[in-house]
Amino acid sequence: MSFDVRSVENLDEFQQALFSIGQYFGQDPNPERTEQFSRILPFERMLAARDDGQIVGGAGAFPFEMSVPGGRVRCCGTTVVGVYPTHRRRGALRAMMRAQFDQARELGEPIAALWASEETIYGRYGYGRAGYAGDIAIPRERVAFARPLEARGRIRIVDPAEALAKFPPLWDGLAQERPGLFIRSPDWWETRTIPDPVDRRSGGGPKRFALLEHDGEPVAYAIYRHNMSWENFVSTGKVRVIEAIGRDAHATAELWRFLLDIDWVASIESSLIPPDHPLFFVLAEPRRARYRLGDSLWVRLLDVGAALSARTYPQGEALVFDLRDEFCPWNEGRWRLADGAAERTEDAPDLRCDVSVLGSIYLGGVTLSALAQANLVDELTPGAIARADGVFRHGLHPWCPEIF
Ligand SMILES: CC(C)(COP(=O)(O)OP(=O)(O)OC[C@H]1O[C@@H](n2cnc3c(N)ncnc32)[C@H](O)[C@@H]1OP(=O)(O)O)[C@@H](O)C(=O)NCCC(=O)NCCS
Repeated sequence: MSFDVRSVENLDEFQQALFSIGQYFGQDPNPERTEQFSRILPFERMLAARDDGQIVGGAGAFPFEMSVPGGRVRCCGTTVVGVYPTHRRRGALRAMMRAQFDQARELGEPIAALWASEETIYGRYGYGRAGYAGDIAIPRERVAFARPLEARGRIRIVDPAEALAKFPPLWDGLAQERPGLFIRSPDWWETRTIPDPVDRRSGGGPKRFALLEHDGEPVAYAIYRHNMSWENFVSTGKVRVIEAIGRDAHATAELWRFLLDIDWVASIESSLIPPDHPLFFVLAEPRRARYRLGDSLWVRLLDVGAALSARTYPQGEALVFDLRDEFCPWNEGRWRLADGAAERTEDAPDLRCDVSVLGSIYLGGVTLSALAQANLVDELTPGAIARADGVFRHGLHPWCPEIF
């Protein structure tokens, strides 16, 4: 079956395309929210699949930048993908991915990234799992730190307007340190991070905004809410930490000290925590956090040459990849990466793999060695896998603190 896939042209079409995924969340179309959402997802980037003039699928792309080792790169942030249950498994998603990648390539976005609802969907389009993140749930009585921490600053609960003014630079600071963060625009902060509609609280209380300052200068912030409950007059409630970001190690620990010490709850919980989060070394009993790990970002190199040249590498050693890329054949063939730049080559290849493998190792969160253990790479020059591990290495695991 063939679908007519094009950008939406007005708010009504935008809403219909969004409903392709919204219905799976049990939502009804909401004109006010649709209008707000169009501030961060332009009409042009919301593709709709039409059957006989009716919208039966949608696939969006946020036009943001993503932090990568050593900098930022323009990224097609794949989002709100859905196909009506009446039209599933007839190729609508495939047609929308085709149109989205072609559009992103035309716009000069070297990579695409997404959070997958199910692991089985996106590998076929060249996305590779590029990192891990997980949930923590720390019992309130197990919040001791391994070493004493001297409090340096002052923490205040601030109102949404102050949060909006003071939190963004700290997010951008984390993006300089960690790959995998998307850069939030002012509209994103205004329409998505700070607002707190009641129907998005999962039964919890309102968002609280906490700011840590050292000598009046913002050094860390948290967004959290209470989800309260009681049994036999005893609180079984939770503090849910939505986001907690510090400028440096001390500020981060000080912020978490505050969050972990909030009284009258049974546990402090958070999600999307990377495996090398400092908390695992700061806590005296990290096992008690009951960490549960899953996949986080998936990355797709849309323009292999531009994408590989957009990040930095700890070593300049040359590597030649022979790539397969069925869905984006313009990437197929041999690429030589040396001294931080990638170009086409006729040189003999060191490694042969699918483009999804490069997506996996791109942010430095997954090693080629690990993928080779799963038989996903052919090593044509002995030692090339170990060399690639050294070239793509990045000190800190990717971290994307929000699902987009
Ligand atoms: C996921 C979804 C968008 C797929 O749309 P679709 O139009 O049915 O997909 P297509 O017909 O284009 O399928 C393309 C291929 O992906 C496979 N596929 C699609 N969805 C899949 C899934 N959930 N699990 C496993 N395979 C899947 C198809 O079997 C097909 O394989 P093939 O190319 O080998 O034939 C649709 O099932 C959906 O809306 N699901 C609920 C919402 C959701 O999960 N959205 C994704 C948000 S990240």
